Amino acid sequence: MKIVYPGSFDPITYGHLDVIRRCSMKFDEVVVAVLENNNKKTLFSLAERKSLIEESVEELENVKVDTFSGLLVDYVAQNQFDFVIRGLRSVSDFEYEFQMALVNHQLDAFTETLFMVTSSRHSYLSSSIVKEVASFDGNVDLMVPSHVSMALKNKFQKGE
Ligand code: PNS
Repeated sequence: MKIVYPGSFDPITYGHLDVIRRCSMKFDEVVVAVLENNNKKTLFSLAERKSLIEESVEELENVKVDTFSGLLVDYVAQNQFDFVIRGLRSVSDFEYEFQMALVNHQLDAFTETLFMVTSSRHSYLSSSIVKEVASFDGNVDLMVPSHVSMALKNKFQKGE
């Protein structure tokens, strides 16, 4: 089965990687799809977010990284994914994720969403928290891989 794990990944964290690794053991092919959204300001460009993920998953042979724009359901239909995977860290994630899954299913009844519960040791993590800590030169080594930590340092040192 071929699944898609969509998101902003600004930047990828160990929480995302936990979901990707576990999916790679259960499904034949996993595509991590990075959203290009011109309405949302991101710290990292689309190319940077994609490249940070590629470096993080290079040892996972059945994981590919792609980008998409527009509606997720259109991307899912074009690529014939069996499922959309989203991670659930906490009950508070559920409301938004539930709404998104229902909207996607209403837009295209063939788009099915599965939720994977993030490991408890990563449940506090989010890209926003990582950016906040890194912006004050805090240590994010337990939150993101070292190349992502370096990229964050470079961004904030340059004052972007
Ligand atoms: O990492 P994020 O920001 O929580 O990911 C959200 C994402 C990219 C999965 C979601 O915003 C999305 O699918 N956007 C594409 C536009 C779309 O299809 N919107 C309708 C469903 S809410």
